[in-house]
Amino acid sequence: MRMSQDWQAATVRRTKPLSPTVRELELAPDAACTRPEPGSHLPMRLTAADGQVLTRQYSLLGRTDDGLAWRIAVKRCMPSRGGSAAVHALTEGDVVQVLPPQNHFALSVRAPQHLLVAGGIGITPILGMAQALAARGADLRLLYAVRTADELVYADGLRALLGDRLQTFVSAQGQRLDMAAEVAQLRPDAQLLLCGPAGLTRAAQAAWHAAGRAAHRLRFETFGAVATEAQPFWVQLPRHGLRFEVAADQTLLQALDAQGIATLRDCQRGECGLCAMDVLDVEGHIDHHDVFLSPAERDADRRLCACVSRVRGGGVVLDTAYRPDPA
Ligand code: FES
Repeated sequence: MRMSQDWQAATVRRTKPLSPTVRELELAPDAACTRPEPGSHLPMRLTAADGQVLTRQYSLLGRTDDGLAWRIAVKRCMPSRGGSAAVHALTEGDVVQVLPPQNHFALSVRAPQHLLVAGGIGITPILGMAQALAARGADLRLLYAVRTADELVYADGLRALLGDRLQTFVSAQGQRLDMAAEVAQLRPDAQLLLCGPAGLTRAAQAAWHAAGRAAHRLRFETFGAVATEAQPFWVQLPRHGLRFEVAADQTLLQALDAQGIATLRDCQRGECGLCAMDVLDVEGHIDHHDVFLSPAERDADRRLCACVSRVRGGGVVLDTAYRPDPA
């Protein structure tokens, strides 16, 4: 991971359940609590139930009113790869290790029009963007899509801020976000900023591409996808003479690490493609959870992104020697 190692202690000052699965935390660092830019995330070191030390990154909602603590909100994933369970196990007074906020999803305020799209807990980086843009009097709309109404954890405050510039979509109530229609309404030089699961990101990519819009005006961040129905699968690496199993609560990348196989990676969210590997053979079905490969590449099953993708009903033979061509 590309980051300096100036870890510092931060104390859990407050925890607050926002829904049955989402908890907001206030983290007061021992060092300065800098004001995070919209879109920033906080790298955290957490200890899982089995004692394993995990590094995770959570989008920052901003600071508390007194400026002494950072705010994050984390959804408990089922199954969890360990991070969300470890966060939900934290109680007030616990101490975690954090790095200063980092930003790979920066907001450009120069665009003349902004469409913000949040899928579920993807509201966390979008919230600060909406507040910053509203404070500047920018032309913006926010589309907030969730499965069930109790996932609209920040809708009340956003409605007070944005009025009818906020639109919510609850799929369990039959409300669907029509990405193509939303993109069609935008000015030619508008910017779309999205944080959500891979499916929502792919829909935005497809609509944006089909409308012939400039790729750099679509910016997104996806979740580290954990399949809700994750199954174990086998992996064979002929180059290393190895065959092993990827457990249901483990990613392929984590299993490769456990086997001591060096693998390129960066985002670990299926966005950058650095972990993509050549598929030599597959038994069963590959569930591609990335947003890096094109739809045709995903259909062809010749490559997979080890950080998020899995196999159902069998396993996969991989060549780990794959390295992407330099851009
Ligand atoms: S590490 Fe970026 S796509 Fe896997």
